[in-house]
Amino acid sequence: MESLHKKILEEGKALSGNVLKVDSFLNHQVDPDLMFEMGTYFKKYFENHGVTKIFTIESSGIAPSVMTAMQMNIPMVILKKQTSKILSNDFYQTTVHSFTKGHDYELTLAKKYINEADRILIIDDFLANGEAALGAIRLVEDAGAEVAGIGIVIEKSFQPGYKILKDKGYDLYSLARIAKLGDNIIEFAD
Ligand code: G4P
Repeated sequence: MESLHKKILEEGKALSGNVLKVDSFLNHQVDPDLMFEMGTYFKKYFENHGVTKIFTIESSGIAPSVMTAMQMNIPMVILKKQTSKILSNDFYQTTVHSFTKGHDYELTLAKKYINEADRILIIDDFLANGEAALGAIRLVEDAGAEVAGIGIVIEKSFQPGYKILKDKGYDLYSLARIAKLGDNIIEFAD
């Protein structure tokens, strides 16, 4: 997505530890026009995948997801990050480890928002180690539903998540793929 590449080059900052800071349009302040265009791209790629719902992980995945859901005319569900297990039969939960942030959380989905006939498109802002996406996949599959695809805004292709999801056979589509990050260096994969 050319406008996203341009925005990343103009406003993104490569920090130490392979982190790309994009607070000015994605993680803190949000650029609504850019989010809408992301929705257009995701719709175009996934519109023939039989998607019934979009799942995202709070919080930065919400903006691109809602723009996609609006354009695909399907519901969107936010997977919550809880600090502890909920002792109730009404929820699916799975533990996710964040390498970037160095902590664990319980990814949580109310059972009433998924059923076995659902085909879920998972959308998130970053793909790094793939732990968040794998957690979302576990919740979908625990419910007996199917993952129709995975849409990522910024994929850091040099980290393990990309290969793990591809090797498992998931249909992964990323709007920007970063091959290399370094001191003032941002290189795209294609
Ligand atoms: P993984 O899911 O691919 O394994 O990634 P990881 O756990 O390591 O990432 C945890 C959090 O860090 C996620 O945000 C993810 O979006 C974010 N993240 C990973 N790499 C980068 C990066 O290079 N730049 C930025 N800005 N964020 C990155 P989160 O905890 O879910 O927070 P939120 O922003 O969605 O609320």
